Amino acid sequence: MSYQDIYAGWQQDPEGFWMEAAKAIDWVKPPSRALDDSKAPLYTWFADAEVNTCWNAVDRHVAGGRADQVAIYYDSPITGTKDQITYADLKDRVALLAGALAARGLKAGDRVIIYMPMVPEALVAMLACARIGLVHSVVFGGFASNELAVRIDDATPRAIIAGSCGIEPGRVVPYKPLLDGAIAMAKHKPDFCVVLQRSQHPADLIEGRDFDWNDFQSGATPADCVAVKGSDPAYILYTSGTTGAPKGVVRDTAGHLVALHWTMKNVYNVDPGEVFWAASDVGWVVGHSYICYGPLIHGNSTIVFEGKPVGTPDAGTFWRVIQDYKVRSLFTAPTAFRAIKRDDPKAELIGDYDISSLRILYLAGERADPDTIIWAQNALKVPVIDHWWQTELGYPAVANPVGIELLPVKLGSPAVPMPGYAMKVVDDEGRELPPGELGAIVTPLPLPPGTLPTLWNAEDRFRKSYLSKFPGYYETGDAGMIDEDGYLYIMARTDDVINVAGHRLSTGAMEEVLAGHADVAECAVIGVADDLKGQLPMGFLCLNKGCNRPHDEIVKECIRLVRDRIGPVAAFKLATVVDRLPKTRSGKILRATMAKIADGQDYKMPATIDDPAILDEIRVALQAMGYAKS
Ligand code: COA
Ligand code: AMP
Repeated sequence: MSYQDIYAGWQQDPEGFWMEAAKAIDWVKPPSRALDDSKAPLYTWFADAEVNTCWNAVDRHVAGGRADQVAIYYDSPITGTKDQITYADLKDRVALLAGALAARGLKAGDRVIIYMPMVPEALVAMLACARIGLVHSVVFGGFASNELAVRIDDATPRAIIAGSCGIEPGRVVPYKPLLDGAIAMAKHKPDFCVVLQRSQHPADLIEGRDFDWNDFQSGATPADCVAVKGSDPAYILYTSGTTGAPKGVVRDTAGHLVALHWTMKNVYNVDPGEVFWAASDVGWVVGHSYICYGPLIHGNSTIVFEGKPVGTPDAGTFWRVIQDYKVRSLFTAPTAFRAIKRDDPKAELIGDYDISSLRILYLAGERADPDTIIWAQNALKVPVIDHWWQTELGYPAVANPVGIELLPVKLGSPAVPMPGYAMKVVDDEGRELPPGELGAIVTPLPLPPGTLPTLWNAEDRFRKSYLSKFPGYYETGDAGMIDEDGYLYIMARTDDVINVAGHRLSTGAMEEVLAGHADVAECAVIGVADDLKGQLPMGFLCLNKGCNRPHDEIVKECIRLVRDRIGPVAAFKLATVVDRLPKTRSGKILRATMAKIADGQDYKMPATIDDPAILDEIRVALQAMGYAKS
């Protein structure tokens, strides 16, 4: 069947489409129907089903003949370690940890925060939670104590499972002081912590509160899978929004299983038994969906890669991993390829490896610039597929459905909507715009299974952020256009989210931190274009009247403050002091105009600007930093 046929089939009977897809899942009690719209515009899928995620990701493969197949390859060039875990091993490890958690009184619905580097135990911890119905919330290791504390207070976990350290090129990042700092800062206190001691930096444990990973499980009775309701939350994943408070995206259990399974063949074109590699981190949605759950639910082998595309040890690392594990489909962010291209412009290192197993490269997480796509195509000699999705949606919404058919690739476009989505571009009043015109990207409700049913503890924010501006539609927060062939083009965010090295960050969160500096009266953070990371945050600081401290000292302190409060992942290294910020007459800072000036793009003078002369001052400040070149 063609993409057109399958898409038309979904359009005619969306519920029938998803009920059919649901047959790929092992149910304790199958759903009697797909959609529950009784609380529209809030929807749930497969609400009356009973199911267990871990059973579908692990046990059923052991029972079904894949016991000896490798489930997880661990490859850590940064520590010089390799390991592999079969489905049978994985089941034992997960059941034991789940048993130990249950023995400490944790029960279905309780939350567990996971703060771990890229080690297989991170997946074991996620799956152990799923096994007994615990709701995990994984926090990326590049976030600092304060961010962790915010998540602890929002998710109110009974337990935290952490690694003793992460390892970045040239430095060990001790996690335990960050964890202790976060617990001290948070109002909510977990009952206990489980710490995976890594030899690179074992942590000091607090007697009575912290348990060593091995001791904690020793002698525990392995736990069986616990059936949960289809609409019960599987996990919470916090992501950046416009304000400093992150949004707790909720993923429900059954929809997640059905949708991820569907994508593994239809989008990523892998068959069970093949090796799928998402070079990302478990702390991001890509890591949830395509390092952990998707490949395992589908019976693939997945790779936990603890390294970087360059420098661990060189720009040939990705090719080695493809060769060593016979990777069929690779998924990463365009930044990774820009980094490789920068270090090895002629892709000479590929010649040292046999990458003939690779069929396709998938890019997402940020705009895939045509130069990078063409370079990757020439280097790898396989199709390079851009596709678009978001933490909220959990899996590709707009893609080239390669497993169905490879549609023509158009550079700069992630291609066409997948079943479940019908993207439209609308103006501010919600009127649909013709092909080629730029506007807000929306898709009609209900969203398909596996997307966010709500935000944790924040239903009003969910409605306000996504549902209220364009009634009947989900607002993606992205702007773009659709061409005559129905291909989507993503151009920018419509909110204050920026994308740095494929990492989604909130400029609002950075502004909140900067505003806390004693000398800063007012500030603005924008995203400026960067050849490697796509965007970089840049801060503009207006100082308190009478402050006569050296500006470079204040700038340094501000950079330090963002690193300490948000974490190194914010990559906040550019800031400058200015006298005034450009604003509208109603006082709104003109961040988008500032970003255009920084990038040397044309811009329209905003009609509501209070004092146009301030834009010239901003331009001068930007030029002093090497930006705003016309
Ligand atoms: N724990 C602690 N610190 C971390 C971290 C982690 N898990 N991840 C990143 N950091 C730190 C980095 O060490 C860096 O610190 P520094 O300021 O001391 O150099 C800082 O956070 C910024 O990280 P990043 O923006 O990733 O830059 P980088 O120079 O370390 O690496 C790339 C650049 C392009 C190699 C890297 O970003 C990359 O591989 N990105 C592509 C893929 C990807 O993972 N995308 C995620 C979504 S799919
Ligand atoms: P995240 O929630 O971290 O996955 O980030 C989602 C955001 O990243 C989207 O809303 C887009 O702004 C951006 N994004 C993701 N994929 C793409 C893509 N293929 N092209 C352009 N932008 C993308």
